[in-house]
Amino acid sequence: MLEQLERLPADPILGLAAAARADDNPDKVDLTLGIYMNEEGVCPVFRAVTEAQAALAAEEVSKAYLPPEGVAGFNTGMQELVLSADHPALVDGRVSSVQAPGGCGGLRIGAEIIHAASPGARVWVSDPTWPVHLPLLGSVGLSFETYRYYEPASHGVNFDGMVEDLRQARSGDVVLLHGCCHNPCGADLSLAQWQVIAEMAEAQGFMPFVDIAYQGLGDGLEQDAAGLRLLAARLPEMIVAASCSKNMGLYRERTGATIFIGRTRDNAEALVSQALVAARRVYSMPPAHGALIAGRILGDAALGESWRSELVDMCGRINGLRTSLREKLEAASGRDFAFIEKEKGMFSFLGLSAEQAIRLREEHSVYMLNSSRINVAGVNARNIDYLASAVAKVL
Ligand code: LMR
Repeated sequence: MLEQLERLPADPILGLAAAARADDNPDKVDLTLGIYMNEEGVCPVFRAVTEAQAALAAEEVSKAYLPPEGVAGFNTGMQELVLSADHPALVDGRVSSVQAPGGCGGLRIGAEIIHAASPGARVWVSDPTWPVHLPLLGSVGLSFETYRYYEPASHGVNFDGMVEDLRQARSGDVVLLHGCCHNPCGADLSLAQWQVIAEMAEAQGFMPFVDIAYQGLGDGLEQDAAGLRLLAARLPEMIVAASCSKNMGLYRERTGATIFIGRTRDNAEALVSQALVAARRVYSMPPAHGALIAGRILGDAALGESWRSELVDMCGRINGLRTSLREKLEAASGRDFAFIEKEKGMFSFLGLSAEQAIRLREEHSVYMLNSSRINVAGVNARNIDYLASAVAKVL
């Protein structure tokens, strides 16, 4: 029975990350996977995480299952982090959430709830979007439409195209939005543009599903959530998938949440009951370790302060790298790379063809996705000159 199953190609992101790891060229540059790396090329553990972890290890007396909805302090902490404690939807008691295995788990639970409410519902996704959105949501049974988003010529958002396409979204449709730090392009909506999307959702009746995997890596924790907070203040219902992978560095601990804004308190509670049944079908209970750490950080003033200040430093480093990379690439190639400085978060499309991205890999051991998406946080003082000269050579 099983021998009929063929070997499948490696995941386009994880497969390239593995190829980069296996490359023994000492000059190799790995800009594939979206993880924050420091100047030493290490994905570091936050000081607050180390402290919270030590305290938890000292206190822990049991490894019994978590309740299916997850760690209570984590759930309320995440609602307040994403929406802000005084958000009208929270004050009205219309917000509920469940802990999920990473941002992916958060997306999956959101998709299960959408499918339960409207089997096979149409989800509008940006062109391009994170490639994993499609199998993650599509395997639940949802269907897709695409809206224009990134415009390669301007390296920015084609907002007129986006609005024109979303004019066709109707009641019962879902529009998947990147809360901030768009993956893969780094081009974000302005607050005025979020306002237009909110007005369209209200008038046309579509529901936003916001993936906020990078809160705090763009302009800051509050600014990065401003767009989705605006939607949540205006619209009767929406779903948010949140993650602590990037902003707390808890990647391998699979720490995320699905947050529901329901029309009423009762509806918000009903959505959690639905989410628990959906989770039980797949993984039963969420993992504990990361959520216990994150919940502790979110609920403790000193740990919270330490975490926030380290996150601000990380973000500052990424933005500094954007400036340096622009300068180095412009000096090496004589071309305009000003767009790199305008984007948010970890990612940028360098604007190379797939052939050029492959040549960079094969001839220079510089690894980026075939779309020329780079993880800016993978650049450092040691590799930036080599990277810029390699890119100039293939241009
Ligand atoms: C990425 O886009 O590189 C990250 O979100 C990691 C992943 O799982 O793809």
